[in-house]
Amino acid sequence: MTSAERQAALEAIAAEVKSCTRCRLHAGRIKAVPGEGHPDTEVVFVGEGPGQNEDRAGRPFVGRAGDLLVRMLGTVGWKRDEVFITNVVKCRPPDNRDPEPDEIEACRPYLERQLAVIDPALIVTLGRHSMGRFIPGAKISQIHGTTRPVDPSTGASSAMVFAMYHPAAALRSSDVERQSFEDAAAIPVALLDARRRRAELARAVPAPATPPGDTNAPLTAGSMPAASLESTTTNAAPEAPTLF
Ligand code: URA
Ligand code: SF4
Repeated sequence: MTSAERQAALEAIAAEVKSCTRCRLHAGRIKAVPGEGHPDTEVVFVGEGPGQNEDRAGRPFVGRAGDLLVRMLGTVGWKRDEVFITNVVKCRPPDNRDPEPDEIEACRPYLERQLAVIDPALIVTLGRHSMGRFIPGAKISQIHGTTRPVDPSTGASSAMVFAMYHPAAALRSSDVERQSFEDAAAIPVALLDARRRRAELARAVPAPATPPGDTNAPLTAGSMPAASLESTTTNAAPEAPTLF
């Protein structure tokens, strides 16, 4: 898929979200919040659902939790428009209650399709409900700051997932805030791991036209040339990888 095709596909999904009535959350929304970001990014952040500010703006993470998320991104040298940011439910749950399982289920096709289009290397989950979509049954206090492979049935064909606390939880607790910044500092390593695994998967399933044994063949999944993986071969803390 070209960048323009990806952009168009994401816009088509957003248009559907804006007129969606698949669950009860449509009734209370001002604006649906499909998500936004760079169509060619390797990293997708998935929050829980829009809050009041997001519902008014039609954009994800534009309130205080969003400011904190942007600060955390900044610590690894990334800007919000270099990643893609979305939520498990695209419409605001009333009074900021948790999304219900049937609402998450109703909204699932949109996130799945967004992930299929972007095909990220790394998914960063923000909070329990987002984590639960990718790592069912896990406890966030036990797995935050760690990566694991993503089931392709989520829409992401060959991604790793990295779990973080929700930034709103970090706003409520200085312990969680400190832990969240520590976890954020580990995102670059998670991305390098994700790139490496994806390159391995691509080598295991060579592109149809690849002559046998041609290790210089282009990767089929993702856009990272193999040379960019060299920095992961040392144990020294790697420089945060640039996204663009
Ligand atoms: N919290 C979320 O989970 N998502 C947003 O978009 C904003 C706040
Ligand atoms: Fe549709 Fe998702 Fe909004 Fe429910 S939350 S109305 S499924 S877009």
